[in-house]
Amino acid sequence: MNLFIVMTVLVLGFVGDCYGDDELLENHFYRHSCPAAEDLIQNLTCQFVAANASLPAKFLRMHFHDCFVRGCEASILLDSTANNTAEKDAFPNLSLAGFDVIEAIKTEIEKICPGIVSCADILSLVVRDAVSCQFDKPMWEVLTGRRDGVVSLASEALNDLPSPFSNFATLQQAFAGKNLSSEDLVVLSGAHTIGVANCQFFSNRIYNFDGNGNPDPSLNATYATFLRTQCKGPSDTTTTVPMDGGSGLTFDNHYYTMLKENEGLFQSDAAILTDHSAREYADKMTTNEVFFTKFANSVKRMAAIGVLTGSSGEIRKKCSAIN
Ligand code: HEM
Ligand SMILES: *[C@@H]1O[C@H](CO)[C@@H](O)[C@H](O)[C@H]1NC(C)=O
Ligand SMILES: *[C@@H]1O[C@H](CO)[C@@H](O)[C@H](O)[C@H]1NC(C)=O
Ligand SMILES: *[C@@H]1O[C@H](CO)[C@@H](O)[C@H](O)[C@H]1NC(C)=O
Ligand SMILES: *[C@@H]1O[C@H](CO)[C@@H](O)[C@H](O)[C@H]1NC(C)=O
Ligand SMILES: *[C@@H]1O[C@H](CO)[C@@H](O)[C@H](O)[C@H]1NC(C)=O
Ligand SMILES: *[C@@H]1O[C@H](CO)[C@@H](O)[C@H](O)[C@H]1NC(C)=O
Repeated sequence: MNLFIVMTVLVLGFVGDCYGDDELLENHFYRHSCPAAEDLIQNLTCQFVAANASLPAKFLRMHFHDCFVRGCEASILLDSTANNTAEKDAFPNLSLAGFDVIEAIKTEIEKICPGIVSCADILSLVVRDAVSCQFDKPMWEVLTGRRDGVVSLASEALNDLPSPFSNFATLQQAFAGKNLSSEDLVVLSGAHTIGVANCQFFSNRIYNFDGNGNPDPSLNATYATFLRTQCKGPSDTTTTVPMDGGSGLTFDNHYYTMLKENEGLFQSDAAILTDHSAREYADKMTTNEVFFTKFANSVKRMAAIGVLTGSSGEIRKKCSAIN
């Protein structure tokens, strides 16, 4: 008994680190209350991903948008109600998707352990598992024990999520506001190695950056020419292009190779090159193993932002609505 307590304290001591709120979370929080949960989530997630390879990117971005607004408490999953416009319906939500998949997984979890596993933990696990399916091993550790929030406000999404037109100082400030460093910023931006972007978020860079019809001089001219063949024009709001054209479905460090060739798609990507130490840090990411290790650390810190634990919040019955 005493030994068990000592071991638990030791284990918790090891998994915690000095950043953010992740000492509030623990490894395998549901090991007694719902031992099959993590396995079931992984099995279901990889089944969904096998049927639709665009999902890992959807979930990874959803996780970012959840954690940066009110913390990782699944507020991004809540639907708007008659009196409230939720985060999901704020402008930065554009093209967020995969909510139906999260809800389907929650429904299966509720069948085996009703009222036990939070939507916030389900999302954190699904994100990790979705990215990891192609590697057949978990790419990062997910601590659990989050509870679900009961508030979701579109206005907060507008305030807390940095825009793709941001410069380095603005990005750094947005991340610092979440206790994340500029190294975390460089590493987490590497998430743009998978997924797609709407032309409207970079068309200023390829058509008329200076008001005289010239492209952004900091964007690779060859790449700008290519991008103009993809988008239909400066006001195209329907076309998407892969952010990492070479390997848009593969989670790897190719983002940094492109970044160095001035092929970062958004101004916010290119901004990394404008800061001396961020640029040097990005250079280190051109070794895949370094990127994977650093990403695992940074995403773990992101996944601990503003978490609700203990008796805060609730365990939602459905992810799209408060109880
Ligand atoms: C540094 C500030 C960031 C800005 C300004 C930013 C902005 C954007 C924008 C505008 C898009 C395109 C959305 C669309 O057109 O559908 C996008 C896509 C994406 N972002 Fe970010 N992002 C940032 C950081 C992050 C972080 C930290 C993550 C996750 C760790 C992330 C993951 C993604 C993913 C995976 C996509 C592709 C989504 C898809 O395929 O639908 N981003 N981001
Ligand atoms: C997950 O899948 C594995 C391999 O198919 C299976 O052995 C295991 O029972 C599944 N676990 C759950 C909880 O569904
Ligand atoms: C919406 O407004 C109605 C009537 O004012 C109120 O009863 C209800 O609690 C409100 N719902 C939420 C989610 O605030
Ligand atoms: C995003 O918000 C807009 C309103 O700004 C809404 O029309 C759209 O359905 C929302 N998208 C998602 C995926 O919820
Ligand atoms: C894959 O998932 C995305 C996001 O939910 C959806 O927009 C798309 O239609 C799906 N594709 C297929 C082939 O089901
Ligand atoms: C950042 O860290 C400070 C000090 O540890 C803490 O008070 C604050 O709540 C943290 N902010 C977030 C968003 O986690
Ligand atoms: C532009 O991209 C090409 C590869 O697509 C690369 O060879 C070239 O060096 C890049 N130019 C600059 C200025 O980064």
